[in-house]
Amino acid sequence: MSASSHDAIVIGAGAAGMMAAAQAGQRGKRVLLVDHNHEPGRKILISGGGRCNFTNLYTAPDRFLSDNPHFAKSALSRYTPRDFLDLVEAHGIVWHEKTLGQLFCDGSARQVVDLLLEECARGQVQMALGIPVDAVDHGDGLFRVTVGGTAYTAPALVVATGGPSIPKLGATSFAYDLARRFGLAVVQPRPALVPFTLGGDEVLFRELSGVSTEVEVRWTKTRFREAALFTHRGLSGPAMLQISSYWQHRTAIQVDFVPDATEGWLLEAKRNSPRQSLRRVVTDRLPERLADALLERVGVAGELVALTDKALRGVEAALRGWAFHPNGTEGFAKAEVTAGGIATAGLSSQTMEARKVPGLYAIGEAVDVTGWLGGYNFQWAWASGAAAGRAI
Ligand code: FDA
Repeated sequence: MSASSHDAIVIGAGAAGMMAAAQAGQRGKRVLLVDHNHEPGRKILISGGGRCNFTNLYTAPDRFLSDNPHFAKSALSRYTPRDFLDLVEAHGIVWHEKTLGQLFCDGSARQVVDLLLEECARGQVQMALGIPVDAVDHGDGLFRVTVGGTAYTAPALVVATGGPSIPKLGATSFAYDLARRFGLAVVQPRPALVPFTLGGDEVLFRELSGVSTEVEVRWTKTRFREAALFTHRGLSGPAMLQISSYWQHRTAIQVDFVPDATEGWLLEAKRNSPRQSLRRVVTDRLPERLADALLERVGVAGELVALTDKALRGVEAALRGWAFHPNGTEGFAKAEVTAGGIATAGLSSQTMEARKVPGLYAIGEAVDVTGWLGGYNFQWAWASGAAAGRAI
């Protein structure tokens, strides 16, 4: 055996790659983990506001987007949030549930990177960090990866280089280029969990930059009930990030600004307190700046008693179904994840191995599986990484 031969080479020391390397290494496989960044897990370090939202208790296949919505089921059922939580607890990491099943470290995201590095060390994973991959070749059942002038060979190659979102952290389209070279299809990658930009008349909403409120946002049949945030470029906040993963260009999103109000709430307010101003009633539910901006656009003002029922119904309808027409998103530079990616049709859902290229695996964000905001994307990284790591 030459010093440069391994059982598996994993390219990408992010969430999925470290999980796969650790799992395979702990099964006695000789694993080389390669990354062009000096520091592994850079996205983990900045995730969840520095506390890493490392999983979600409500993980279920319907919280993931993919051309094949069934693909993620197998891996997700064989490596669950409880499995990762067991690992977190075994490493003494203290955690808390924030909201909607989202689990975070009490301390810092660094603890999750350390956990993965320790698991890799337990599996005696060899690392080659901070060196670009020069070439990947394949022949005679072996993959040959040249890194900084040194060639390494292995019968298994795991592509775990994620998607192109946030290039300044070292994100690239490497996975797609490699996949295409091996004859795998790639579903058009697009920025997801990304803020919207507003143009035209809606540019005026930028004046509300910094204002946040709980909304229900809808796009076709998909809806999310979370906070929305106006920014100096458009719309952000969890509700907007969530719907952005589904949104298609040149379509409108609908926002219910008063999701807690009962049907006919303005008419009821008119009956109960006729001398109250419309502005007063609306600012009871919405931040003042937002209420003023919306009412100005609706063009209705005054005491409730002076307004017809029809006018009040119109105001309520407008507040419940405000249509925004984003002219785009902030793109890969700001997208938390990339939707699309290596087509699942070419991969085994059990092992993540390419059907037509034995020994080639693709995992994590590189694959056409994208989770909702809230720890789902890391859970996919752990689950798909574990599936490949156990199969190698
Ligand atoms: P990941 O991107 O983590 O790793 C890929 C690795 O490949 C990187 O180390 C990169 O350097 C390396 N690489 C890329 N190109 C290469 C090349 N050509 N040669 C060698 N190496 C290469 N998710 C979640 O569930 N909870 C959260 O709290 C957050 N928070 C969050 C915040 C922010 C700001 C972002 C940008 C993203 C999140 N996410 C998240 C999403 C989450 O970070 C993401 O889904 C996972 O990191 C994906 O894991 P992967 O291992 O697939 O890719």
